[in-house]
Amino acid sequence: MLTQSIYSTLITEAIEQAQFPVDPPKLYDPIRYILGLSGKRIRPLLVMLGADLFAFDDMESTIPAALAVEYFHNFSLIHDDIMDEAPLRRGAITVHKKWSENVAILSGDALLVKAYEEIAQCAPDKIPALLKVFNRMALEVCEGQQKDMDFETEDQVEESAYIAMIRAKTSVLLGGALQMGAILANANAEEQELLFQFGVNLGIAFQLQDDILDVYGNPENFGKQVGGDILCDKKTILRIHLQRLADEQDALTLKELVNERDAESKIQTTKQLYAKYDVRAIAEELKERYSEHAYKALEAIRVAAQQKVALLDLARNLMVRTH
Ligand code: IPE
Ligand code: IPE
Ligand code: MG
Ligand code: MG
Ligand code: MG
Repeated sequence: MLTQSIYSTLITEAIEQAQFPVDPPKLYDPIRYILGLSGKRIRPLLVMLGADLFAFDDMESTIPAALAVEYFHNFSLIHDDIMDEAPLRRGAITVHKKWSENVAILSGDALLVKAYEEIAQCAPDKIPALLKVFNRMALEVCEGQQKDMDFETEDQVEESAYIAMIRAKTSVLLGGALQMGAILANANAEEQELLFQFGVNLGIAFQLQDDILDVYGNPENFGKQVGGDILCDKKTILRIHLQRLADEQDALTLKELVNERDAESKIQTTKQLYAKYDVRAIAEELKERYSEHAYKALEAIRVAAQQKVALLDLARNLMVRTH
């Protein structure tokens, strides 16, 4: 717990100290804006805990890699909010709504470049390995995001296709962040792979929780629009199982809901169906299963149990998060 808060403080300081040019303001203000909002900053923490797991003795040197991952994440959020037509992010108006979509596209692009600038600051002998992990993961995020959008207009999405989609759009970033930390700490290939698997399974559970919160989150502290996934016809884990279980009448209602223009009514009707078929319990159970896979992968890494405490704490907290 102590480790976690020390690293979180270092990350916060590094983000606060980061300098971006003033001109042109419409390029750099949105970057300052999104980075200044209170995100959980778990991905940079994963980079640091990935190194800490192997008792790395130069933790300060992991900061650029940690920043790179957080910059990449924020870039992906700016663009994701355009794609998902989201009005709110971290309790504040989204970049494309505050400025414009064009501004959001370009400031997102600039933030991606800033992520690479940070990787260039890492230990020179580690850069090729870091780039390999980072590039693979970045491309997979794009693939996952495209699939997520493709699924909006597909009636039938299998659970396995959904899991592959969220693995790409969300989980590889968590796995990749941990692996980058392991690379910096000179972990061997087997250790890196196990840690990556821990992150990927944790990431799947994390996105399942994200899907659940999108419907059942408390608008007071969730920070995003509750029901946003329903409005976009996202094939979330809840929606997929509803589609599978619905009787003929409810399947018809669901089909008609695609054209429902009244947002509140679309959300309420969908929620009633979720309750009728108790799909939340199915999602919770699946989340449990993936977090178990994650713990197994972590168990298999041969370091002292004490070294794993911070990661286990973080994983447990993420499973019960409310925002
Ligand atoms: C949001 O990630 C995007 C998903 C992959 C679900 P977080 O929930 O980590 O967002 P912040 O950074 O804390 O705002
Ligand atoms: C986002 O998934 C994944 C990425 C940003 C790559 P979501 O669209 O579910 O994330 P939120 O709910 O907007 O944070
Ligand atoms: Mg999205
Ligand atoms: Mg979104
Ligand atoms: Mg979501």
